[in-house]
Amino acid sequence: MTKEKCFILGIETSCDETSAAVVQDGRKILSNVISSQVELHKRYGGVVPEIASRKHIEMIDIVINDALEQAGMTLEEVDAIGVTYGPGLVGALLVGVSTAKAMAFALDKPLIGVHHIEGHIAANYLEHSDLMPPYMCLVASGGHSHIVWVKDYKQFEIMGQTRDDAAGEAFDKVARILGLGYPGGPLIDKLAKQGNKDAVHFPRARFEDGSLDFSFSGVKTAVLNYIHRLEQIGESYDRADIAASFQHAVVEVLVDKTIAAAKKAGVNAIALAGGVAANSALRELMVKKASEEHMKVYYPSPLLCTDNAAMIACAAYYGLQEGMEAGLDLNAVPNLPLLSSNLPNWK
Ligand code: KG4
Ligand code: ZN
Repeated sequence: MTKEKCFILGIETSCDETSAAVVQDGRKILSNVISSQVELHKRYGGVVPEIASRKHIEMIDIVINDALEQAGMTLEEVDAIGVTYGPGLVGALLVGVSTAKAMAFALDKPLIGVHHIEGHIAANYLEHSDLMPPYMCLVASGGHSHIVWVKDYKQFEIMGQTRDDAAGEAFDKVARILGLGYPGGPLIDKLAKQGNKDAVHFPRARFEDGSLDFSFSGVKTAVLNYIHRLEQIGESYDRADIAASFQHAVVEVLVDKTIAAAKKAGVNAIALAGGVAANSALRELMVKKASEEHMKVYYPSPLLCTDNAAMIACAAYYGLQEGMEAGLDLNAVPNLPLLSSNLPNWK
């Protein structure tokens, strides 16, 4: 694109947030409207896919109109449309993808398919004008825990990933065990502030030498066993201490492996992305340990850590720069892998 200013309309509907945003030149947010369904799903203790799809259909037009209005723009003034097409819930993704395709066709504008995780990584560009590849990014959300070497804006290498539960999933499950509610991450984060992180030593999964993979199902089971054992012998326990100790066990592994990956790749910048990147203990420990290695740490503000369309518009901007335009056969891909060369439907 040689045009002076480039306005991208981003659309995100992969899970339980209906979001639309307008971003200028990949870095400046003009609007970022997020309609969360969390209250609807709370009573079920997790996202119900059918309910999510229906709510997206109800909200999508309203959210897009709000995003355009807040940006002071008409649809015709938008240069391209970026949309999450995977991974995620297929019915939920389809609402965003179908809407984006219809608009791109009607307006004859470029359509860019965005990988959801790539969007989370890109959220960092929206608030840190000095951040540029290469850097190491820890992506930790409800569905993913990946260490991604961002070699260039559209070039990624996965250095490590979870072999079972995602970090956010472990937070949500332990919160349920502790009777805290849903979503569990922010509730554990809050409760842990009143607890002692060294009260209980929960196990950290270790793999063969050098592996940067994670495993979080063991620590979740260890919390469950610990509570059951105390209950069986009629002893009380401190929920805040358990929350703090569990959180520390997860966060320590995330931090140590991300720093090891950065050293291995020879990069001196680390970024955090995804819902778990909002965790205060993770941010604190990453900054502390990274500074000991003379590495700089970047993370988005809490709102941009969770699902939002500004991050999708940002990732779409860099896709557009590379000419990665999608055809109207773009489809929702629920288990889309994070490798640019695997992205289908590019002209
Ligand atoms: O990225 P996200 O909004 O949705 C997915 O793409 O999955 O991440 C949601 C996840 C949930 O598991 C939630 O419990 C977790 O991020 N989370 C947190 C915090 N805020 C959200 N986990 C730990 N500490 C937090 N402060
Ligand atoms: Zn997400």
